[in-house]
Amino acid sequence: MKDTFYITTPIYYVNDVPHIGHAYTTIACDALARWHRMLGKRVFFLTGTDEHGEKVQKSAAAKGLSPRELADQVVTNFQGLTPALTISNTGFIRTTEPRHYASVQDLFRKSLASGDIYLGEYEGWYCVPDEAYWTATQITDGNCPTCGRPVEKRKEPSWFFRLSKYQEPLLDYYRKHPAFIRPESRRNEVVAFVEGGLNDLSVSRTSLSWGIPVPEAPGHVIYVWYDALTNYITGLGYPSPTAEFGTFWPADIHMVGKDILRFHAVYWPAFLMSAGVAPPLGVFAHGWWTVEGQKMSKSLGNVVDPYEMVRKYGADAFRYFLLREVSFGLDGDFSEKELVRRANSELADKLGNLLNRSLGMLGKYFAGVVPAPGRSEPADAVLSACGRECAPAVAAAMDEVAIHKALAAIIDLVTKGNEYVQSTQPWALAKYPGKRARLGTVLYNALEASRVAALLMAPFTPTAAQKLWEALVPGGEPVENARIDRDGAWGRLAAGATLPAACIVFPKIET
Ligand code: MSP
Repeated sequence: MKDTFYITTPIYYVNDVPHIGHAYTTIACDALARWHRMLGKRVFFLTGTDEHGEKVQKSAAAKGLSPRELADQVVTNFQGLTPALTISNTGFIRTTEPRHYASVQDLFRKSLASGDIYLGEYEGWYCVPDEAYWTATQITDGNCPTCGRPVEKRKEPSWFFRLSKYQEPLLDYYRKHPAFIRPESRRNEVVAFVEGGLNDLSVSRTSLSWGIPVPEAPGHVIYVWYDALTNYITGLGYPSPTAEFGTFWPADIHMVGKDILRFHAVYWPAFLMSAGVAPPLGVFAHGWWTVEGQKMSKSLGNVVDPYEMVRKYGADAFRYFLLREVSFGLDGDFSEKELVRRANSELADKLGNLLNRSLGMLGKYFAGVVPAPGRSEPADAVLSACGRECAPAVAAAMDEVAIHKALAAIIDLVTKGNEYVQSTQPWALAKYPGKRARLGTVLYNALEASRVAALLMAPFTPTAAQKLWEALVPGGEPVENARIDRDGAWGRLAAGATLPAACIVFPKIET
């Protein structure tokens, strides 16, 4: 097993405040980063902001600010997501930092030197909001094929990247790395796009000034996507031969929304190949959220503010809902009603309840001291088998970035735990002194199922998982320092430990 893991979010445009889409990508990456740490890997987790380009320049002008002033204001909203959503990123990059200028210009120079970047003239249809040029055949009725907004005809001298030369190398890379683009359906889309032929790509602009200058070419700034994609290596210290770059590159996962997959799976590996840098190992495209059945938009006034969700429901419930509700990779629909329903029925009634009823009975019947388990009966074997299979099931799911399946496996364990308590009826056993050993075994198993669940929930609901963990492993290391292979094994709950009588981690959300 590779002992490092490098995961990135897209860098977010600073022309707007964060919404659920940004929160989603970042939360998914955080769950993966935390998971891989608990496998014992060294993890680098990068996020940041995309601060150049026409979109930011225009938004700033509309507010009477310079682009840098706008960026400086808005960036704090994105940096604030880290504490608000309990994100464990190890780096934050702003594309306006000097280290990034050096990195982008270095990469660009390498492709100039290899002859892959040349001077020409660009004419095409430009979508300003998406910062993308389209050919006449790509646009539909004068509108951008991805966002549907009107495009404008533009002509300007431009440096071009010889993308056409990379058609075969890219297809070859996709063939040799079948997991490079996930999910599978998205991979097929990209392969078909590249098989359709690639045009050289305009990678500089003279029509705008808010960007990184093309080396030795006054008047040209580097195309914002070339600039933005390079953040992934700048964040590790490129082009200096830093330890981070040597250790963590190539990236394991660039997590992106489905709308920006082409930039990551086609352009980015080609830029890197041309400069002699290894392409990333994986790009995962997730789906989009609608809000109560509708496209999220400012004009509809239905933009979901992650800060507000955290204030209302707490970061854990919000994280849980986003990761649990949809098959990761597909689109989903956000509704607060569903969030509350899931948080109440799964986090409070299943996960929280299993621990609380078990702790309550432990306090009542054993003065809070964990008994040693005795002989196993058939009902015990069903639960312990589920407990033993849980960490491997979560591992398999996280391996295929099926985050929803990981959560389903954990919820399955706590569901079985509650059924176990229901069927073994410890309160009835407690009436007979002769059944004390059996009562001890039942409570041990119920608590052990909670312990395994608490451990496995740590990547998804970190704050709550830590509280559950503290109740079950008093005085132990924080759960984020636990190891899945060691601590995920069944039977590690310490007999003889004194546990609290209650632990209310998920109070019911009142509506
Ligand atoms: N700056 C570029 C990315 C450059 S990466 C080198 C960008 N920024 S963005 O702020 O517009 O979008 C960031 C991410 O948010 C994208 O991955 C996009 O898919 C995601 N989402 C935007 N709206 C979304 C939803 N409604 N639902 C889920 N994700 C969405 O693109």
